[in-house]
Amino acid sequence: MTKTIVLTGAARGIGLQLARAYRERGDTVIATARKLSAAKRLRDLNASAGLEIAQLDVTEPVSVRRFAEQMDKRSIDVLINSAGVLGGDHQSLDDMDFDAWLDAFDVNTLGPFRVTTALMSSLVLSPAPKVITLTSQMGSLHRNSVGQHAYRSSKAAANKVMQVMAVELKDRGIIVCPIHPGWVRTEMGGRQADISVEESARGLLSVIDRLSIEDSGRFWTWEGNEHPW
Ligand SMILES: NC(=O)c1ccc[n+]([C@@H]2O[C@H](COP(=O)([O-])OP(=O)(O)OC[C@H]3O[C@@H](n4cnc5c(N)ncnc54)[C@H](OP(=O)(O)O)[C@@H]3O)[C@@H](O)[C@H]2O)c1
Repeated sequence: MTKTIVLTGAARGIGLQLARAYRERGDTVIATARKLSAAKRLRDLNASAGLEIAQLDVTEPVSVRRFAEQMDKRSIDVLINSAGVLGGDHQSLDDMDFDAWLDAFDVNTLGPFRVTTALMSSLVLSPAPKVITLTSQMGSLHRNSVGQHAYRSSKAAANKVMQVMAVELKDRGIIVCPIHPGWVRTEMGGRQADISVEESARGLLSVIDRLSIEDSGRFWTWEGNEHPW
């Protein structure tokens, strides 16, 4: 059965490829971008693949509310929070951009919460709704790592938010999982990264398809392995 998929941050990178991949298999894709006028690749994909596109800045309550109103009474089967930022170029002990750090929290941590809660009335209309946030193994507390304080802490916090929401939403049958999408060749991941957007999206689709309520509140990788928190 075809599903309705909502994507944030679909202007480029993994979000854009997820839009393409879901559409290729016949799902209804509602792909959002914070600035549609600048999202040429998404607009081109829309022209060839027939998506629905909408403006959504995950840091702007008005934008989130407007999008949720557009979705009113429509069922959402899968919400994928893909919008993300690295948190600026200055994230070291002796050189920290605090504004960019706060922005990373706004986009990476508060964003998925804001969007998920705003879309709750649409999610509960699906027989098996799934909320996925693309977090990162860089936010895993299990790893001893250095640098990238803003990015790591915002993704660690996003993992926790997803875990708490999973417990809170289990009664409503909503599956909530953070997933690490791999180290992917995008503007964020860089050219040296391990995998292409196509490989990442293929893996993500397959993992997301298989998730059941027993898997909710657990941290997964794009390859379907459970990741330590
Ligand atoms: N690439 C990797 O190796 C990797 C690894 C682990 C996790 N991730 C996570 O996977 C997700 C996608 O990453 P990516 O590599 O595709 O990144 P990307 O190529 O840098 O794309 C990020 C997307 O997020 C959008 N965005 C940023 N701020 C936004 C906001 N306030 N509202 C709505 N959209 C916003 C950007 O829109 P604009 O085009 O308007 O800037 C862009 O479309 C991110 O959450 C990232 O942290 C990526």
